[in-house]
Formats: sequence, structure tokens, C-alpha cells
Amino acid sequence: MKQRIKTRFTEFFDVSHPIMLAPMDQVSDGHLAAAVSKAGGLGMIGGGYGNQEWLEQAFSQAAGESVGVGFITWSLMRQPELIDLCLDQKPAAFMVSFGDSEIVVAAAKRRNIPTIWQVQRLDMAKQALDAGADVIVVQGQEAGGHGMSRGLVSLLPAVRDLAGNDQIIVAAGGIFDGRGRAGALSLGADGVMLGTRLWASEEANGSDAAKALLVNAKGDDTLRSKVFDVARGVDWPWYFTGRVVGNQFSNQWHNNIGELQQQVEAEQQRYLSSGADDFDTRVLIAGECLDGIQSIKPAKTIIHTMVDEAVDTLNQTRNCIIN
Ligand SMILES: Cc1cc2nc3c(=O)[nH]c(=O)nc-3n(C[C@H](O)[C@H](O)[C@H](O)COP(=O)(O)O)c2cc1C
Repeated sequence: MKQRIKTRFTEFFDVSHPIMLAPMDQVSDGHLAAAVSKAGGLGMIGGGYGNQEWLEQAFSQAAGESVGVGFITWSLMRQPELIDLCLDQKPAAFMVSFGDSEIVVAAAKRRNIPTIWQVQRLDMAKQALDAGADVIVVQGQEAGGHGMSRGLVSLLPAVRDLAGNDQIIVAAGGIFDGRGRAGALSLGADGVMLGTRLWASEEANGSDAAKALLVNAKGDDTLRSKVFDVARGVDWPWYFTGRVVGNQFSNQWHNNIGELQQQVEAEQQRYLSSGADDFDTRVLIAGECLDGIQSIKPAKTIIHTMVDEAVDTLNQTRNCIIN
């Protein structure tokens, strides 16, 4: 590595690089979280909807590395006992996304565990600030997985203006290389959170078929949809959609959600009885940054290359200034 980038994020978490792993449900297991932390970033276990057995396994896979954990709040609140179970593991951070998270932030703060809250709108950023979240992740609509409709380029500086200079802010959505990293810094972020790029890593928990499709699919192939939530019977609040790679199933139903709901039992049955790697039917969650993913690499290579590229980009940008 040539040079490093130091920000409030690296100081606060005592890590080498201002890069964190998104807590991707199923994908971000203990192995991937540990690999990211070992590479100098902040690894996060994807607690997802909440499953005690899976969480215990993930923490034991990551044993010896400092990793955090993140949840889908509205689902976590249906099994609040998981909050203490995770806090007992003394995670490097406790992250919440998608829903009112004040109770969780307060519980983590009582135990001196750093808190991270992912937001999709300016009013949500205000809510996270009022709750005292240590870090706010600003997620743009480019992101893989669930989110909302605002783009990162205007939302991120708006959150910085709202939060003031002392707040630690992380950018998420569409970032896959050093240019995105450097751009996020210019727009007001102290760090970046990577989902799709680290999903396409050697250590990510997923099949070879899924990873091959991540390499072959492009950003244009993705869409934000509710189809797969209906098909999987997951009752997400109506205002969140999920960015996924479009397939035969979404082609059939994306513009016919009402009709899908009328025959939901049969279609859920069809969906659930399809093979795990049948991606004509099954969902492949990924974001617009698929355009920049040409191969599956080790997490360490992804992170270190991104830092080198970001340093180059920042240096080149400096060269544009005429004195
Ligand atoms: C496969 C996948 C699963 C995800 N699962 C979760 C999740 O369980 N909880 C969560 O807060 N965010 C989840 N996300 C969204 C990430 O937190 C993050 O906002 C997003 O990945 C950033 O955009 P990017 O994919 O372009 O890097 C997921 C994203 C992906 C790609």
C-alpha cells in the first residue's frame, strides 16, 4: 500500500482504513466480517432479520477479530432478546437500519458499544441524530438491497450540513472503487460502506453460481422492486423497496404486484420450491455498482486496492487546481 487515508472514522474505530462492510443478511457471515477487519476495515456481521443460531455461529467464526453486527430494525424489534445476546459479545459496533431504532441505540449506549444508524432520507438522519447515533450511514438508492429513492450525491452533503462537522458520516450505495471512495470524501463522508463489491468477494457467504452472476450482470439489469418480498412472504414496510438483479420472476410481476398478491399462495409456493441457485426465479440482491465488478477477489485485495486508487484520485484532483 502506498499511503493511507485518516479520517474521524479511522480514529473512532481505531482501524487502518475508513471502509466498512455492510451487514448483509446471510452474506456477511463471521468469515467475511473477520476478513474485512483483518484487512484494516470494520467488519460487520449481517444479523439481517435476526436468527439466534446463525448469530452465534457468525460470532464464533469471527472469534479473535474485532467485528460489529447490524440488523433490520423492524424485524429485530420482534425478537428484542437478540439485542442483549449481541451486546454480550461486545461487538465493535451495533448497527441498525430500516425503522425506529431509538430503543436499540439507547441499549447499546448503556453498554458503551458504538452505534451506527443507516438512513435513506434527511428526516431519518434527523431522527438518528436526535437518538445520539455515533455514526450515520447515508444510503443512496443505487445501493443493493432494501432502501428508498433518494440518490447519494444530493443526500450525503445535505446530511453533512444538517449534522455539522463533528458527526461521523459514512456513505453507502454504488461505491466499488477508489473513485467512489474519494468522491464520497468530497461530498462529506468520513468513510464508505461496501455491500455489493464485498458480496463479490471470495470470503462472502454465497454459492459459486450466485457469485458468477454478480460478475456477469450489470447495473442496468438491476431494479428496485417489492416483488421478492411478496414472493418470500416478508412483510417489509411499504416504503422500502429492494434493489435486485431482474430475472424472469420479476419480469413477470414487477408491474403487476396487485395481480401477484391475488395469487400470492401459489406464487410463494412456486418461489420457495425453486432451487436455491435457480436465479430465473430466486432473488439475487445486488446494486448498480455491478458495472465495476469483473471478478471475485479476496476482501483484502478489494479494500487495499480501493485505498490505493482513492489516494491516486485525490492526488489527481489536487493537480486540477491552478495557483
Ligand atoms: C446482498 C445484500 C444484502 C443486504 N442485506 C442488508 C441487511 O440485512 N441489512 C442492512 O442494513 N442492509 C443490507 N443491505 C444493504 C447494505 O446495508 C448497503 O446499504 C448497500 O449494500 C450499499 O450499497 P452497495 O451494495 O452499492 O455497496 C444489503 C445489501 C446487499 C447487496
